[in-house]
Amino acid sequence: MKVWSVDLSDGNWTEVLQEPAQRLRAGGVVAFPTETVYGLGGNAWDDAACRKIFAAKGRPADNPLIVHIADRNELAGVTSAADCLPSPLVRLLDAFWPGPLTIILPAHPQIAPSVRPGGETVGVRMPSHPVARALIRQAGCPLAAPSANSSGRPSPTTAAAVVDDLEGRIDGVIDGGPCDVGLESTVVAVTESSGTVYRPGWITPEQLSAVSGVPFSLDPHLLGAEEAPKAPGMKYRHYAPDARVHVWWGDRPLAVLTAIRRFVMDNPGIRPAYVLPADFPDLPNAVWRWSPDPATPYDEALSHALYHLLREGDTAGATDICIVGTRPSGRGLALMNRLQKASEGRLYRV
Ligand code: TXA
Ligand code: MG
Repeated sequence: MKVWSVDLSDGNWTEVLQEPAQRLRAGGVVAFPTETVYGLGGNAWDDAACRKIFAAKGRPADNPLIVHIADRNELAGVTSAADCLPSPLVRLLDAFWPGPLTIILPAHPQIAPSVRPGGETVGVRMPSHPVARALIRQAGCPLAAPSANSSGRPSPTTAAAVVDDLEGRIDGVIDGGPCDVGLESTVVAVTESSGTVYRPGWITPEQLSAVSGVPFSLDPHLLGAEEAPKAPGMKYRHYAPDARVHVWWGDRPLAVLTAIRRFVMDNPGIRPAYVLPADFPDLPNAVWRWSPDPATPYDEALSHALYHLLREGDTAGATDICIVGTRPSGRGLALMNRLQKASEGRLYRV
């Protein structure tokens, strides 16, 4: 499959996008970098193209896609509500677009049916990555794009991870280097009086409330209730490598350390990889250990690196990836949400 490499320091870099943009106009599917994770794009007005996205990923047909635009005036082509956005929502767009915020809006009838299975709504995002925005402009259509992994696997944060998952199943990938944010966008719905977070992300509920001026709550499934999630994607096994993921977190580092050590001692046959704060000592039988630079906050560094680390665990032949988690609030909410799914519930508070 084609790999188009973009070097942003080359003044003519947008020329590299001519061929992938042409493939998109012709109904093809192309993976591209965004500031969050790599997306697998297709023309959001072309149902056959969007169905190719589902086929390439093995994605369940009931899980809607996010539609990406390059400019605010393109909202008119994706939602029927472009002229009557609630004012708290407009304040969020002013503050966070372009960027890692997806908003749920009434869908424009032109949006392909497969993008919004059974639904009248569509998720819309304006990414800040220059390659993503230039690609949308050159293609001349909004791009429906889920994360460019095969369904259930960790989202890709490099072009190499896209190739690993989707080789032979898509037209190609644009390599724009590693993604900055590392976790997917925050997904929200907003009315005149309140907001709901369907998927936590880099932009926190506290920031959303402060900027919009209305209170935000979490969709009930995020609070551990048995409720079906409003973002259908949140109900599937997700973000998981082949290795088993285990997560421990708590306010007392020594207790966390002791719990991990006990787990490894009790399971002598495993080949563990470790993801630990910098001030933790080494642990037994390590296939590898990752810790961030002590100058970077642990939750921030781990958010950036998480999906790459999950894939590295498999590459190195780890049977188990033992991860120190963080408090599930603020930025830690998105991180712990992804870890909850990647670990299939093997997440322990100590
Ligand atoms: O950062 C991101 O959002 C990345 C990059 C590529 O933009 N995209 C991404 O897409 O993570 P995906 O498909 O992997 O996740 C989209 C999430 C799913 O949980 C899906 O159920 C939810 O957004 N979603 C999309 N449209 C929706 C809608 N109309 N109503 C409710 N949830 C929706
Ligand atoms: Mg995804």
